[in-house]
Amino acid sequence: MNKRFEPSGALRGTVRPPADKSISHRAALFGAMSDEPVTVRNYLRAGDTESTLDAVQALGAGVDDRGGELVIRGVGLHTPADVTGGTLNVGNSGTLLRLLPGWLSGQPGGRWTLDGDDSIRKRPIDRVAEPLRQMGAQIDARDERFAPMQVTGTELHGIDYVLPVPTAQVKSCVLIAGLLASGRTSVTEATRSRDHTERMLCRARVPFGRDGQTVWVSQVDELELDDVNVPGDPSSAAFLATAAAIVPGSRIVIDDVCLNWTRTGFFRIAQRMGAVILGDLEEPGDEQPDHEPAGELDVAASPLIATEVTADEVPLAIDELPLVALLGCFAEGDTVVSGAAELRVKETDRIAGVVDGLRGLGADIEGTEDGFVVHGPDGIEGGTIDSRGDHRLPMLGAVAGLASRSGVEVLGMDVAAISYPGFESDLATLLG
Ligand code: S3P
Repeated sequence: MNKRFEPSGALRGTVRPPADKSISHRAALFGAMSDEPVTVRNYLRAGDTESTLDAVQALGAGVDDRGGELVIRGVGLHTPADVTGGTLNVGNSGTLLRLLPGWLSGQPGGRWTLDGDDSIRKRPIDRVAEPLRQMGAQIDARDERFAPMQVTGTELHGIDYVLPVPTAQVKSCVLIAGLLASGRTSVTEATRSRDHTERMLCRARVPFGRDGQTVWVSQVDELELDDVNVPGDPSSAAFLATAAAIVPGSRIVIDDVCLNWTRTGFFRIAQRMGAVILGDLEEPGDEQPDHEPAGELDVAASPLIATEVTADEVPLAIDELPLVALLGCFAEGDTVVSGAAELRVKETDRIAGVVDGLRGLGADIEGTEDGFVVHGPDGIEGGTIDSRGDHRLPMLGAVAGLASRSGVEVLGMDVAAISYPGFESDLATLLG
């Protein structure tokens, strides 16, 4: 489905973004791994997180949909005796592809195949295969790196694993496997990535510790997870915040946004660029928090200046870096993002997608090996942008269109529903 976004007037009003995708995935998985039913409020009902519900049901868990809430009836840490294998379809979800093997690899006698869509078949899984093999699991994959992948469960043992690249998906996979592994399992990352898994494990009363950039878990018999309330997704909110920051005269309120500091890197970058974003963003600390803070963000348009984003900030804003590029088009000076080679292995090569996409709309942007450079502040002329099947690119195009001089045609707008099903109606609310 194609959709045109014309230059718009100011955005005004209040919206609530969709539920957080990362927390929803974890709520379904940890609910399925619990012995007692877990009520999940405000679960994200979108393509990626439906794949997780399908997967946990295929593994024996029950999912009761009670309108505004789901009740996950888990199977405990060990899958039932009659659930010993089969093919699990992760759809388009890289997070499910990386987290699920952590659980499956600790099921002795089980053998599962994980597969997904064309994009999933291009996303590397050697990054989870390596630590899981070190823990004793047998992992087979196409060309050693890609789905379909086979996970053969076994008795696991704990390891100390240093992540070659900071990634929450691999960290979470190893910690999940650690729940089933003898002894202690630790993961160390050079810079902090999102910590939803850590927070939820603490709430599930798992033996857990943090020492600087190292986190560890010990083997447990059961998870004791209470209800989960999923806050709004900061990655989705970031599209609305960017629109309000670059369309002159805008002033909006985004309600119930997850303000966990490992997810709010984009808002700090945008503030540094001069965007007016007011909100109670969580501050980092030495202790591991066990809850997800949420609150409103008040965003207003203002003049922007260029900034530099380097490797240590990248994991805290990984999904929002395309929006840093768009802000950079309107900012005085050169906005430089580096240390972000991970963008090349997202739903698409997001460096290529963003650079080609925005350049096609008239932006002065060039790609580098591990990021991009944007020369502002001439903004966006307009034109056509292709989603390339990546849910974040059509939303980037739509926001660019509102702030453009001649409008933007987005090819493949429907892909946005993978993470933000109500995106167009939220924009319509803000545009009055
Ligand atoms: C996610 C982690 C991020 C992010 C992805 C969701 C998660 O990837 O890009 O959209 O839920 O753990 P990495 O931190 O693994 O790069």
